[in-house]
Amino acid sequence: MLEKITPRVTSVGVDNTKERKFENQYVLYHGMAYNSYVVKGEDKTAVIDAVEEKGFVEWRTHLVAALEGEMPDYLIVQHMEPDHSATILDFCEIFPDVRIVCSAKAAGMLNQFFPDCGLAERVIAVKEGDKLELGGVTLQFLAAPMIHWPEVMMTYCPEERVFFSADAFGKFGAVGYEDDWINEARRYYTNIVGKYGAQVQSLLKKAAGLEIHTIAPLHGPVLSENLGYYIGLYHKWSTYTPEEDGVLIAYASVYGGTAEAALLLGSMLMAMGVKVITFDLCNQPVSEAVAQAFRYSKMILASVTYDGGLFPAMHDFLYHLASKGFKNRRVGLVENGSWAPVAAKMMAGMLEKMKGMKICENVFTIKSRLNNDTDREPMVQFIHSFLSE
Ligand code: FEO
Repeated sequence: MLEKITPRVTSVGVDNTKERKFENQYVLYHGMAYNSYVVKGEDKTAVIDAVEEKGFVEWRTHLVAALEGEMPDYLIVQHMEPDHSATILDFCEIFPDVRIVCSAKAAGMLNQFFPDCGLAERVIAVKEGDKLELGGVTLQFLAAPMIHWPEVMMTYCPEERVFFSADAFGKFGAVGYEDDWINEARRYYTNIVGKYGAQVQSLLKKAAGLEIHTIAPLHGPVLSENLGYYIGLYHKWSTYTPEEDGVLIAYASVYGGTAEAALLLGSMLMAMGVKVITFDLCNQPVSEAVAQAFRYSKMILASVTYDGGLFPAMHDFLYHLASKGFKNRRVGLVENGSWAPVAAKMMAGMLEKMKGMKICENVFTIKSRLNNDTDREPMVQFIHSFLSE
């Protein structure tokens, strides 16, 4: 991933194509990219962000090529999460005169992650609006707290019209596996940044005042065309506005009875012309379900009752949604239980703690398995209520 993106900015990040989980929890289908950039002025050179631990050797090779024999003067640290900071000390050992430019909060974290290493003595702490002159090229710093840690800042280079957006506008996947940006960007946004919609809104307001031709994130491809498309999606995601009118049917089933009801409901809705996506919470990654919940305007949640409570896969999904600040959706509830179904009550209890959730009063309850004689009419009534309330 060594690529000149503007005359004075070179991408020097690394692709970890073997990585299978991000944050040790989110499944990766095509590895992960950890970006870094070299910005060369007439007098000074800056490197924007380090990379993850395993990428150090590749990063060093890219740095040597991009620096063309020069020594960097500054390491700009936009974000201290270890996927970007783990190699700061290694970098400073290679370039002993480099100064670290970061927010005051990041400087504190630098000491936490690298205690007794003397990195604090190299720090130039900057804040919103501060500028760093490199000679014909300027780096301007914007505070971006909670996107996605409190110390985060972003950087704008007006001469090159490049906006270095830290975690924002990133995606899962190594850059070498270029695919349809939106799916893995949505899954990345909703699961990593999803909780911080208000902070993303405030960032978008600041960014609107800048002339941006290129967005250079710390994950995923550099974006240089049709930027309104990406910014528009960030507006939707950060305001919890659905992208599409449609229904996510997420189900958690032990022996198939609940799954059968969920899938039949899905086919009935599709026959009515409703856009539907069905999702098996027991066998598909919860991060995908979270992304689809953000995508669609409505949800039907179908869960079996388990140990007098909610089946763990459904509990886990709702826990994830709550932790991401998910809100403002229409929800229908389907429950199953062979002797005392309580799943709907448990799901409603979790949903009621999220803001703006409109729960359909008509709950569809099955006992063990669908019964074509007795369940068909209640299903029709459930669908009618769900779509009409
Ligand atoms: Fe890519 Fe929040 O670190």
